[in-house]
Amino acid sequence: MMRRRLATTTLTGLAAVLLLAACAAPEAADDADAPDIALSEVEQNASAESCWVAIDGDVYDLTEWIPQHPGGADRIEALCGTDGTAQFEGQHGGQGGPESQLEEFRIGELAD
Ligand code: HEM
Repeated sequence: MMRRRLATTTLTGLAAVLLLAACAAPEAADDADAPDIALSEVEQNASAESCWVAIDGDVYDLTEWIPQHPGGADRIEALCGTDGTAQFEGQHGGQGGPESQLEEFRIGELAD
């Protein structure tokens, strides 16, 4: 009886540790094995309903960001389905705010 209770307690503890570890794990987009996304796939998401943009070798889903951009929705919409590296760097290169905002939308790495 005691032994069974000990086993149950140990298993519960183990489950809790595993749960905590899973919660603390970094988001998939931060992993080295983030999915590779071809530019042709980015190009298929070229509207305000699904807006993917490649910037500096990574791919971002900016759909939610379009109406929130302080510089205007049209600026982001113009980039949907394209490689917007030049536009982003030209406007925001080296600015911490826009760069960290961008990170929130990362969905993968641009395939070679
Ligand atoms: C593609 C991803 C982009 C992201 C994540 C982004 C993010 C941001 C953020 C966070 C701000 C606020 C900065 C602050 O208040 O310190 C901002 C402002 C601004 N952005 Fe962007 N931006 C992007 C692209 C662009 C592009 C391509 C242009 C222009 C071609 C642009 C033009 C502007 C302008 C003009 C402002 C200043 C608005 C104002 O305060 O009056 N942005 N952007």
